[in-house]
Amino acid sequence: MKYDKLQIINLPKIIDERGNLSFIEEETHLPFKIKRVYWIYDVPGGEVRGSHSFKETDELIIALSGSFEVILHDGTKEIRHFLNRSYYGLFIPRGLWRKLENFSTNSLCLILSSNDFIESDYIRDFDEFLKITTIGKEQNI
Ligand code: TYD
Repeated sequence: MKYDKLQIINLPKIIDERGNLSFIEEETHLPFKIKRVYWIYDVPGGEVRGSHSFKETDELIIALSGSFEVILHDGTKEIRHFLNRSYYGLFIPRGLWRKLENFSTNSLCLILSSNDFIESDYIRDFDEFLKITTIGKEQNI
């Protein structure tokens, strides 16, 4: 079950009356090397982002500001993570379907990626994802 690797990574939080500070160190906090960083912002109410799966890309998603939900599917069942703290990262291993929705006003979604942007690494069709995932499970890969 790919959910085994899915996890919330607690990032350091340096509490300070001048304002708090958090950070990420690649080798301390991440199970992958960062190749790319991108962010999603100015999401209109009700919009959905990221309905897809990656074949060979791992990610860490952080709600730097505001909140949103990450909906994950492993081919069998769906689970939801509500992110609303800038010191929690959700590590999503490759091979899970993921969708982002319910963005709050002014939310900022930061994504650290283990890969460059490669369109052929995306699976954008849910039925195709289910087919590939089921075959993978049958062959135990
Ligand atoms: P995409 O990942 O498909 O966004 P979402 O799944 O949230 O809808 O990216 C949207 C567009 O942005 C797509 O045309 C490709 C482009 N893009 C890049 O050029 N580089 C990137 O690093 C990312 C993430 C997207």
